[in-house]
This record gives sequence, structure tokens and C-alpha cells, in this order.
Amino acid sequence: MSVYPIHRGRRIRSSKQMRNLVSETHLSADDFIYPLFVTHEKHIQKEIPSMPGCYQESIDYAVAEAQEVKELGIPAIILFGIPKTKDTTGSDAYCETGVVQEAIREIKKRVKDILVIADLCMCEYTSHGHCGIIDGGEVDNDKTLEYLSQIAVAQAKAGVDIVAPSGMMDGMVKAIRNGLDKNNFTGIPIMSYSSKYSSSFYGPFRDAAESTPQFGDRRSYQMDYRNAREAVAEALTDVEEGADIVMVKPALSYLDVIYRVKQATNLPVAAYNVSGEYSMIKAAARLGWLDEQSAMMEVLYSIKRAGADMILTYFAKQAAGILKIRN
Ligand code: PBG
Repeated sequence: MSVYPIHRGRRIRSSKQMRNLVSETHLSADDFIYPLFVTHEKHIQKEIPSMPGCYQESIDYAVAEAQEVKELGIPAIILFGIPKTKDTTGSDAYCETGVVQEAIREIKKRVKDILVIADLCMCEYTSHGHCGIIDGGEVDNDKTLEYLSQIAVAQAKAGVDIVAPSGMMDGMVKAIRNGLDKNNFTGIPIMSYSSKYSSSFYGPFRDAAESTPQFGDRRSYQMDYRNAREAVAEALTDVEEGADIVMVKPALSYLDVIYRVKQATNLPVAAYNVSGEYSMIKAAARLGWLDEQSAMMEVLYSIKRAGADMILTYFAKQAAGILKIRN
């Protein structure tokens, strides 16, 4: 590009229409996936204190919210369950009457044309709060795989549209694909949380999902935030094992990782704009330190610009509302 005064960068920023014409990144409600926290309790909706606007809710409220999400033009929800009882193997996650299975059945029955994704992990269902089976004080990778495969089949039987394993076990995608295929669910896609970091930005979620580990932390299975090449390796492994969509999580401190994963694979890339990223903006806005709407839109566009094809975000409804008015 030639230099000033032949070139003036400001020419293409001179009006809203001009800026729209040259904009490189587009965002729409179609890009969003909205998370819901479903509890086994009856007819209850409790706001999560650290996540204003998000709720722990019973299935009837979740059905109503799914309908609202659909009417905003958002194509998908992802479900997290808060079970009645937790045990060492997280049995509510794979039993037919588990909270997520019940929620999937109800939502699929009552809301037309919305994709129901189920988070596939054990941490919300185990008494120890870890994402797998504990043996000798450690999460046993290979024992956990059998359970993950069972959970996937239970979710598929309930009518789920996509399963989303988030436990960062080695071989999880392969085990789940095998389990689904053996049970004739060859058409159910796997959205793998392939590059999931051990992050302090999950704090508010763990309150919401009641999934804080009772001892230790998740650093022996979730990734170290100092690494990016490793995230690409993890994504490529999942592609080989049969993932249909790969994910980077969290999103905001990991825009470089989203970019790299996007370059390295031809599969759709999802990014999870996690609870702490949501709460930071909500909190700063409450204090009057940030303008909530514009900060939210800037963050969502940045994630898209980095290369995400879809964004899991607690802002989905709010942002879809704004995009509807703008378009
Ligand atoms: C694990 C899971 C976590 C999130 C989604 N799935 C938390 C964790 O690993 O502790 C975090 C989502 C968020 O913070 O918004 N099942």
C-alpha cells in the first residue's frame, strides 16, 4: 500500500455505510449457542449471583427459554445438568432418567427446530467433582472412557442432536464415536472441547453448575495456558478420532489459539466465551466502568474475527436482540 498523502486510511472510515461496506467480519444470531443450566428441582428459576441474567432452572423453564432462544434466531442451546444426587461414577449422567436426558426429551418434544447439544462430562455428576473416575487419587483416563461412551449413548437415546465432550480425556472422541456407532447413532455429530485450558475464568460456571473439584484441580487433564502449539496438536488428534466440530475454550485470552486451530483444520471451529468472561463485563458495567453493550459486541466480534465459526456464549440472547435491531 502506498503512503500518505496518496493513501489515506480514513477515507474508508468516513461514514457508517462506508464502514459497513468494508467490514471484514460478520456476526449473526446464527453464530450463537446458548448455554442452559437445568436442575432436577421442580418449577424453579434461580438467578446465578455471579452471572446476572443466567439461571439454574427446572425443565419447564428450560423449555420456555429454549423457545425464546429459537425465536431470537439462535440455532442451538447447550445443556448442563445439576443432578439430584452425585456419586463416585456420576451415574445421573448416563442413567435414562438423568436430569439432562429428561431435559433433552422435553425440549425436543416441545420446541421445534432448535438444536439441542449436551455437554458430555462427569464433573457435575460426581461426588468428588472431577471429570472422570478416580483411582489412587488421580483421574483414571481409560476407565473414564467407558463411562463417557455410555453417557453419549444415553444422551443420544434421549434425542440429543450433538454431543459435546468437555472432560479432556485422551481418546474421548474415539471412545464416544465407537459407542454411538455401535448403537446405531452414526448420524450424531461430536463437538469436541479439544483445546480446553485449565482456567480461572471458569469460576462463575462452577458455582452455576456446582462442579468445583472437592480436592486438587484439573491441571492433570486440562491444558496449560502457556501452550498454543499443543492446542493445535490436541485439535488435530480429535479430528483424527472423528470429531465433527472442534472447540477452543476459553475464548478471550485464547484468540491466538482460535486463529491457529482454524488454520490447522478444515472442520468448523467453535469458541467458548466462558462464564468469567461474561461476569467480568457484567460486573464492570454494574460499576459503571464499561459500557456493557459495546464491550459485549466488541468481544463477540473479536472471537469471530479470530476465526471462530460459532460462539458458545451467555450473551447469545442479548446480542441476538441487538443484531436483530441493527439488521
Ligand atoms: C466441564 C465444563 C466446564 C465449563 C464447561 N464445561 C468447567 C470446568 O472445566 O470446570 C466451563 C464453562 C464456563 O466457564 O462458562 N464440564
